[in-house]
Amino acid sequence: MPKNAFYAQSGGVTAVINASACGVIETARKHPDKIANVYAGRNGIIGALTEELIDTSQESDEAIAALRHTPSGAFGSCRYKLKGLEKNRAEYERLIEVFKAHDIGYFFYNGGGDSADTCHKVSQLSETLGFPIQAIHVPKTVDNDLPITDNCPGFGSVAKYIAVSSREASFDVRSMAKTSTKVFVIEVMGRHAGWIAAAGGLASDAETEIPIVILFPEVEFNQERFLSQVKAKVEEYEYCTIVVSEGTHWPDGRFLAEAGTRDAFGHAQLGGAAPVVANMIKDALGYKFHWAVADYLQRAARHLASKTDVEQAYAMGKAAVEFAVEGENAIMPAVIRTSNDPYKWEVGKAPLSEVANVEKMMPKEFITEDGFGITDACRQYLVPLIQGEDYPPYRNGMPDYVTLKNVAVPKKLNTAFEI
Ligand code: F6P
Repeated sequence: MPKNAFYAQSGGVTAVINASACGVIETARKHPDKIANVYAGRNGIIGALTEELIDTSQESDEAIAALRHTPSGAFGSCRYKLKGLEKNRAEYERLIEVFKAHDIGYFFYNGGGDSADTCHKVSQLSETLGFPIQAIHVPKTVDNDLPITDNCPGFGSVAKYIAVSSREASFDVRSMAKTSTKVFVIEVMGRHAGWIAAAGGLASDAETEIPIVILFPEVEFNQERFLSQVKAKVEEYEYCTIVVSEGTHWPDGRFLAEAGTRDAFGHAQLGGAAPVVANMIKDALGYKFHWAVADYLQRAARHLASKTDVEQAYAMGKAAVEFAVEGENAIMPAVIRTSNDPYKWEVGKAPLSEVANVEKMMPKEFITEDGFGITDACRQYLVPLIQGEDYPPYRNGMPDYVTLKNVAVPKKLNTAFEI
């Protein structure tokens, strides 16, 4: 008898996470002998705990196909990490209660490193609590910090957005530099890993030279060295663009941008490194500046998505279902790069025990010796990931994105669950 599948989106969303959802649902629909319905969690794992499930079978094939070009989380996402079994057994018992009630035998969790940990814990439910379930993690994170996989769906599109925006804003500053703005600062995401910041370096290349200074979370911030870099660039080029990672920190570990609040994962809420850096430059060097925090614009920008990224996001969702119907558990499909030039990749498999809670930082050889730029090796890694355009359809001058009906699966339990 086929079982139902649970699919949920977790953590910060991306421009292509719905392409993975599309891959999961379309592929599940091709295996009716193994998978009956895909129930999506409303707001991630919280939907499973509170029995708020969405019946994706109520959506037409066209609506599901449109997920491929629709950004952000169609079913709602969450930042909620399951504690260990010893710490909160009630949560696991509740999951089993809901899964049993809805005949769920497959668990697909679409997220980053913290979410991989949740997925790993669910994958052990048959061992720990005797409930048979196959759990497969679908990789996603703009931060690009999951191990084993060559890159993470969501990252290529952010990288493209940041590279393009940095180039375009640099052209603007260059036009004004003689009499007005000399410095443009763009702040990008990436709490601990500087992959997105590195992508800003792609704004400059052999054909289009742009003076760029990058501040990585992997490099301790040194104010004096930074200011002398900026001064040297402005003296040579008349202007300079600075890409600052939100994770840039002082030698004592304090973020330049720490807002003083924490999310449910215990992460510091960041945002505000750009004005800190811009004012520092104004105070020390007197240059007029403009700054921007790319914030949600960068990870929601589906109109500028990388075609490679969209294809990989879809492929990861598809592979997750294929692995599940083959009987796999506790794994994550991964992107394996088989060639750089021409760029080629295939789908591989990573054990969840080696993925959960591991953060992949930028390797040393990707950052120039002065700590403010990217090397050729980094460029070779990044360039294929931003290749190709995959524009959404437009209607009335606007992208035509889908909003699903998100019909609730009738509840079968009479018990509420407090999260
Ligand atoms: O999940 C990754 C990420 O996009 C980080 O780069 C960023 O710091 C964070 O999410 C923002 O999270 P939230 O949307 O929950 O504030």
